[in-house]
Amino acid sequence: MFVYKTRPPTRFLTPDLAILDPELTRSMPPSLTAATAMDALSHAVEALTGSQSSPYSDALALQAVGLIVGNVQVAADDGENMSARGALMVAANLAGLAFNHSMVGCGHGMAHALGGLYGIPHGVANALVLRQALEYNFPYIEDKLAAWNKPSTPSCCATFLLPCT
Ligand SMILES: [Fe+2]
Repeated sequence: MFVYKTRPPTRFLTPDLAILDPELTRSMPPSLTAATAMDALSHAVEALTGSQSSPYSDALALQAVGLIVGNVQVAADDGENMSARGALMVAANLAGLAFNHSMVGCGHGMAHALGGLYGIPHGVANALVLRQALEYNFPYIEDKLAAWNKPSTPSCCATFLLPCT
């Protein structure tokens, strides 16, 4: 059975505000915490590398990547760490704002298909295809990634986004 994840173009299905209270996530198991963080990371990375990215979406997405990379392990290992959970919530919100301005890309396209065909949770599916999506897009984003490989870019972002050698 196919389950299509669509986003009808109506303002009635988009939130007017977001409540970022990490206490609401305290009972999330480590696997769900990690999968949710990988979804947010995919949102940020696809916003950064999408053809509709802008300096505005880049700023939001880069901040999100740094917060996720710096907090996902702690939040997954210690579900009681509200500082790490709060940072992930802010990151997820920033990544959402970023991709609402620049869209997501082929990674989410593949993840939606994997989720619908095989029942793979959305965040896990995104994590499975993120590297391949970046490699597929690399010829188109190589110059942009190289521009970030400078001291003003948070090192975790440059390390994560640049291809492994
Ligand atoms: Fe997603």
